[in-house]
Amino acid sequence: MRSLFTASLALASLSFAAEEKVPVDPATGMKIAPDWEIVRNHCIVCHSPATFLRQRATEANWTATLEWMQKYGGLWKLDPEVQKTIIKYLATNYGPGDATNYRRAPIPATLMPLNPYATEARLEVEKKKKEGLIPAAPPTGK
Ligand code: HEC
Repeated sequence: MRSLFTASLALASLSFAAEEKVPVDPATGMKIAPDWEIVRNHCIVCHSPATFLRQRATEANWTATLEWMQKYGGLWKLDPEVQKTIIKYLATNYGPGDATNYRRAPIPATLMPLNPYATEARLEVEKKKKEGLIPAAPPTGK
């Protein structure tokens, strides 16, 4: 009960702290953001939370990871609503973010070799580039 109270306090403070420091659960290291307990309950049964906390991925890539685990890792079939909730938490709190997430500026896509493991997200970017919706190189400086 007490931890519920603490969690709801933390969530309440989140709504106006917005992008500022998100409180972290001391036991798992997970960000205490909406629905974090649903993710905890499903995702630390087989491996340490570090397995996913150190990853950064788009919604498409988180979906692919979950489906891969369901196929090869023994992860059970999730209720579609639960799966959506889990992926939303992961993509929101452990998404690729912006350029400040990198230790250096990303290498312009034009200088990268063809990706033999092209994901859905990558294919979408390639398509948008062809349509001229994304510049070939990222803008430089500020
Ligand atoms: C039934 C067991 C099980 C559950 C539950 C489970 N996983 Fe996994 N997961 C695995 C296995 C097995 C691996 C592969 C471990 C390895 O290769 O050493 C793995 C690996 C991973 C990886 C690493 C993938 C990579 O690219 O290296 C991530 C990320 C991950 N799991 C996230 C999650 C998330 C998020 C959840 C909650 C929906 C979850 N796991 C729940 C079994 C599970």
